[in-house]
Amino acid sequence: MGKNIQAIRGMHDLLPEQSALWHFLEDSVRDVLDGYGYRELRTPIIEFTELFKRSIGEVTDIVEKEMYTFEDRNGDSLTLRPEGTAGCVRAGIEHGLFYNQVQRIWYRGPMFRHERPQKGRYRQFNQIGAEVYGLAGPDVDIEIILLTRRFWRQLGLKDLELQINTLGTSEERAVYREQLVRYLTEHKDKLDEDSLRRLESNPLRILDSKNPDLKELIAAAPSLMDYLGEESKAHFEALCQGLDDVGLPYVVNPRLVRGLDYYARTVFEWVTDQLGAQGTVCAGGRYDGLIDQLGGKPTPAIGFAMGVERLVALLEEQRDQLPIKGLDAYMVLMGDAAQRRGLVLAEQLRDQLPQLRMVTHCGGGSFKSQFKKADRSEARIALVLGEDELERGVIGVKPLREEREQCEVALTDLAEFLKTEYLTA
Ligand code: HAM
Repeated sequence: MGKNIQAIRGMHDLLPEQSALWHFLEDSVRDVLDGYGYRELRTPIIEFTELFKRSIGEVTDIVEKEMYTFEDRNGDSLTLRPEGTAGCVRAGIEHGLFYNQVQRIWYRGPMFRHERPQKGRYRQFNQIGAEVYGLAGPDVDIEIILLTRRFWRQLGLKDLELQINTLGTSEERAVYREQLVRYLTEHKDKLDEDSLRRLESNPLRILDSKNPDLKELIAAAPSLMDYLGEESKAHFEALCQGLDDVGLPYVVNPRLVRGLDYYARTVFEWVTDQLGAQGTVCAGGRYDGLIDQLGGKPTPAIGFAMGVERLVALLEEQRDQLPIKGLDAYMVLMGDAAQRRGLVLAEQLRDQLPQLRMVTHCGGGSFKSQFKKADRSEARIALVLGEDELERGVIGVKPLREEREQCEVALTDLAEFLKTEYLTA
């Protein structure tokens, strides 16, 4: 026999026991997005490689070494999407969504990056993101950050820190970049291999280095803030003011530069110290130049994406406190006649109580083995129908999790009983 085939490294199955937590997260997030008037956009998970090269940037880690790129049978170079923004912009241009309109959209789904897998970092991971087109901000910058705060409230996540920064316009950044390269070149002997490589290609990313030996050097580097023009400065000040107005605490982190090239002005991240090295659960910013760059008419844009696996990991820590609903009932059916009657009864109950979550036992077996399954199902109650109950026109109701009396209910009253006793919170 051959070796068993396993999942690809860094790619994971979502097992049934975890799905309730994912649904809680996805539903909560969707409610918030609905509440702010964002509508969903679904794009293919594969695009032409060129799209990502031209948007994320040729000299970023993602494009240089992390993309799943392949030739299809026509010889076209295609790539599994490493993120969602490029596809949104492509779709928006293609369908004319940016013509004199404001678009508030969101998306979700798997993204692919060939990174070194570790806790919180995978090769297939899920994002939920949102993008707004046609508004130059800073009011919408504030809206989008408030929207993300509402996610955490809705999910019951505390202790997330908001970090913000501004990257200025690309012109401002070009001037700053020169000064930064000059400074770093003067201290070339102190740079590590990674930074030396970036010195030519992407010097701003050096500011983001995690190497403690570079900390001092980076702290003393020129700051982009000093190279901002009036408009960029005013934009950033208005953003800070707006966050102050709503009482949302933030940290200005001048080293926050982001790993994708399309950003301009506002960037932000929500971080936690509970997930080790991969502590960013949500990240985004403004990318006013990208639509133009990809062939559309110049359109201001801002957005963010959240790492769903990382948020799920945070939620797992407090799983007991989450309003996650399990099964209401497990119907135990003893004997052929009860089995037959049970299936009919269950359908009647489902008609009358659409909110009921119930498993009807299939496959026979002893009372003992059926109760074991009922218990393992984590249902609140077992509904017990045997020959004896059937004859008397009743069903046994046995609470499985609470200290409540077991009782019998007439079959004709069962729907009403379940509704008042177990289904109205
Ligand atoms: P990003 O910072 O590359 O931005 O990714 C956003 C979030 O996705 C990260 O903060 C993290 O939570 C999650 N994430 C990224 N890579 C991985 C991975 N390998 N494993 C698990 N989670 C991961 C973007 O993707 C931009 N498109 C966000 C954006 C939207 N900016 C403007 N609009």
